[in-house]
Amino acid sequence: MVPSVDAIFSRDCIRDQAWTWRGTGKVIFVCAKHFKDDCFSNLRQHQEGFAERLSLIEESVPSIYGDDGRTALRTRRKNAWSPFSTRSSHRGLHGCMSAWVIDEYGSNAVLRFTEEVPVPALPSPAHLLLKVHASSLNPLDLLMRGGYGAKLLQLRREPLALGGRNEFPLVLGRDVSGVVLECGAEVTHFRPGDEVWAAVPPWKQGSLAEFVTLSEYEVSHKPHSLSHTEAASIPYVASTALSALINAGGLCAETTPHKRVLIIGASGGVGTFSIQMLKAWGAHVTVTCSHNAEGLVRGLGADEAVDYTSGDTVHTLEAMDRFDVILDSVGGETEQWALPLLRPWSGSKYVSLVTPLLSSTDHLGLLAGGMQSGWALSNKLLQRLLSRGVFYRWGFYAPDGPALDHVRALVDSGKVLPVVEAQFPFTQVPQAFLKLEAGHARGKTVVCVTQEDSSEAGEQEQEAPQHQACSP
Ligand SMILES: NC(=O)c1ccc[n+]([C@@H]2O[C@H](COP(=O)([O-])OP(=O)(O)OC[C@H]3O[C@@H](n4cnc5c(N)ncnc54)[C@H](OP(=O)(O)O)[C@@H]3O)[C@@H](O)[C@H]2O)c1
Repeated sequence: MVPSVDAIFSRDCIRDQAWTWRGTGKVIFVCAKHFKDDCFSNLRQHQEGFAERLSLIEESVPSIYGDDGRTALRTRRKNAWSPFSTRSSHRGLHGCMSAWVIDEYGSNAVLRFTEEVPVPALPSPAHLLLKVHASSLNPLDLLMRGGYGAKLLQLRREPLALGGRNEFPLVLGRDVSGVVLECGAEVTHFRPGDEVWAAVPPWKQGSLAEFVTLSEYEVSHKPHSLSHTEAASIPYVASTALSALINAGGLCAETTPHKRVLIIGASGGVGTFSIQMLKAWGAHVTVTCSHNAEGLVRGLGADEAVDYTSGDTVHTLEAMDRFDVILDSVGGETEQWALPLLRPWSGSKYVSLVTPLLSSTDHLGLLAGGMQSGWALSNKLLQRLLSRGVFYRWGFYAPDGPALDHVRALVDSGKVLPVVEAQFPFTQVPQAFLKLEAGHARGKTVVCVTQEDSSEAGEQEQEAPQHQACSP
């Protein structure tokens, strides 16, 4: 039972609300044991006379992860923060969180706001619980909203369920910038209160929610120089670009200087990040984009920009020296004209981000779809190698906290900038999806999840009805 008190603070509100709470009554602070030493003593120091009024409840009110605690603490829900409620002076403790979920696949109409999603429990001692400050949208969110990859992703989520359970309610959102709230016993690299960023794998519950759990390996400390809103624009596209460029393209900081790289489709999320990454590694970067994105891509460092809408893209590119690596984020027919642009018989690589793997398994089932994709890839690989002496590869997103550590260093040294095209408050997630659906991205669309960031995004939307173009 929850005793009658003036305020209850959970570990997730300690930094934001408890420190600024100016009430005079009795206060209860519910926390996990390992969190106690750091934050409890911080609280005592922070407010004079606070210690006498402060009780630590560790046993009598269970953690919000426990069922009993969840039930008891739901009684405090009237204090719970919601993007739709007014801002309150302190945040109540609760076992459920706000999130945007889908309960079926479909159009934007399937997006549903709810405050009834249980706060996720740590799935293992190597996991962390994060408070999400900002998230961002990727084309994958649109595709997943419509059911893309459903079969393969569900197999990854529940390998032993054999179709017995479904994935709903499903939370989308692949990027997170936020704060560590709780660390499993085996987490060594992070502490509660650390500011972090990560790309949430598509087989996990996403970041369009107040909280998300991730493994220690998937998380990285956020760049100091970025706000949460800016930081949330980077992790998923960075993880994809790095995986594609390093694992499939064979590039890295040491081998890239003076290599000629072509990025097909450079004005969106992956492209704007890749230009900067490659320039930081010393590559010569040529890109294709539409004419009105030329200023953006050149500003990010592209050496040559070719307007793909001009009608003579191929001729223009053919007149240039051959490339060592092509990163294709457009797919389809591009590979027909792009492959001859590679330097033959010299280990050059064509890396496509647009692969049929997930759609094949959706349409043909896991086994047949997987086999067909495997056959298509090996066939293309062999053909391209034998006929042109170039390697043909698919690039995929891969969760990689250490890779984000590398990106953090580049961001903090000013070599990589966030490219935030539009930002939406948490109340306007459907509008953010519509923005993405309209296409022609110029960088990233960010969703500010916390109340403070949401208010800022709301204010900026009012000031500038057209989506705000921020950096670079
Ligand atoms: N395999 C993976 O694991 C993986 C991971 C991440 C992304 N992806 C895929 O990679 C692609 C790019 O992702 P993203 O996040 O960068 O998408 P995005 O932010 O939507 O950007 C796409 C960009 O391409 C431009 N574009 C469209 N058609 C073009 C063309 N024919 N030539 C040159 N540019 C063109 C668009 O602008 P305009 O239309 O105005 O030209 C837009 O700026 C998507 O298809 C995504 O699904 C795959």
